Order: sequence, then C-alpha cells, then structure tokens
Amino acid sequence: MAPTPRLHHVGVSAGAARLSVGRAHPKDLPALQELLSLCGLPSDGVTDCLNGFLVARDGDRLAGSIGVERYGACGLLRSLAVQPDYRHGGLGAKLTRHALREARRLGLRRLFLLTETASDYFPRFGFRPVPRQQAPPALRSSVEFASACPEAAICMERRLA
Ligand SMILES: CC(C)(COP(=O)(O)OP(=O)(O)OC[C@H]1O[C@@H](n2cnc3c(N)ncnc32)[C@H](O)[C@@H]1OP(=O)(O)O)[C@@H](O)C(=O)NCCC(=O)NCCS
Repeated sequence: MAPTPRLHHVGVSAGAARLSVGRAHPKDLPALQELLSLCGLPSDGVTDCLNGFLVARDGDRLAGSIGVERYGACGLLRSLAVQPDYRHGGLGAKLTRHALREARRLGLRRLFLLTETASDYFPRFGFRPVPRQQAPPALRSSVEFASACPEAAICMERRLA
C-alpha cells in the first residue's frame, strides 16, 4: 500500500486564533532566524534584542514572530513573519496586536517600522508612512535602519499616546 502523504499543517491557518503568543526564548533563535530568512527579512541584531521578541508556537513549531526594539520613548517594530502555511488566518494581526500591547506596556509613545513588502498591511493597525528623518536619531542608528533595510524601504509610524 502506498504511504499516506504527510499533510503537515495544511489548512492550519484557519486555526491561528488557537495559537498562543509568548516571549521568545534563546532556544527559539535558530527557528526564528530560519523563519526570517524564509520570509526574506533581515535577522541582523536579533540575537541582541531577543528579549523584545514575541513568537507564536504550534507545539514545537515556530509559526510566527514579531519584535519590538526600544529606543527611549520610541520603539522599532520588526520581524513580523508568519510561516507560509499559517498565513491568511489572522496570525499576523494577532502578533501585531500583541506587539502594540507590549509597546504600550513599555510606555512607548511612538512605534516605527521599515517595510519593503507590507506597507499596505500595516495601515489597518494605525501605521502611516512618514519620512525616515521623522524617526529619532537613536532609532535611525539601529541595525535595521542603519544597515539591514535598504533605503527604498518605507518607514511607517504609529502613535501610541
Ligand atoms: C505580512 C504577513 C505577516 C501577514 O501574515 P498573515 O498571518 O497572513 O496576516 P493576517 O492573516 O493577519 O492578514 C491577512 C490579510 O492581510 C493582507 N496582507 C497579507 N500580507 C500582506 C502584504 N504583504 N501587503 C498587504 N497586505 C497583506 C491581505 O489582505 C490578507 O488577506 P487575505 O488573507 O484575504 O489574502 C505574512 O504575509 C508574512 O509573513 N509575510 C512575509 C514577511 C513580511 O513581509 N513581513 C512584513 C515585514 S515588515
């Protein structure tokens, strides 16, 4: 008899709501870097700011990620990534809402991001395109601003207070 095909995670996206979002642990690092690479996102600086990362897990598998880097009263939202077979089920939105909550908990007043691929995704969470120069100098000297994201990336801002 032919072996049963392994339908690993087919259709899981509809169940994104059931996935819990929690803080990343050092042991998540390899899977996180792999996910970012798969999604074409930079992983520069991730090791240093891992404590600002949230991840969605499905058992042992890392289904999605998002990070908040803190620069005084401002933050950098980075590394929103969802495994392809978990997309279109609200997981990206769930991770973004968790990150916004985390940013407020940290007392941040403004949140910035850079994106080459998702400038039409973030407005639903209140982000608006702004000139890069609008971000404070400390944030502009972050790894992501200074080197990881090309000049062509769109800068967006969300005010939290
Ligand atoms: C962007 C991303 C996180 C969305 O994850 P998701 O779990 O599918 O998001 P949600 O389920 O909350 O929302 C899906 C909806 O968002 C919209 N959407 C998804 N990706 C989008 C994008 N790149 N640009 C604009 N809109 C997008 C679509 O309207 C989609 O609706 P559909 O399911 O009817 O097609 C995911 O596509 C991803 O990981 N992309 C690669 C990495 C990336 O570009 N990240 C942003 C970096 S700053």
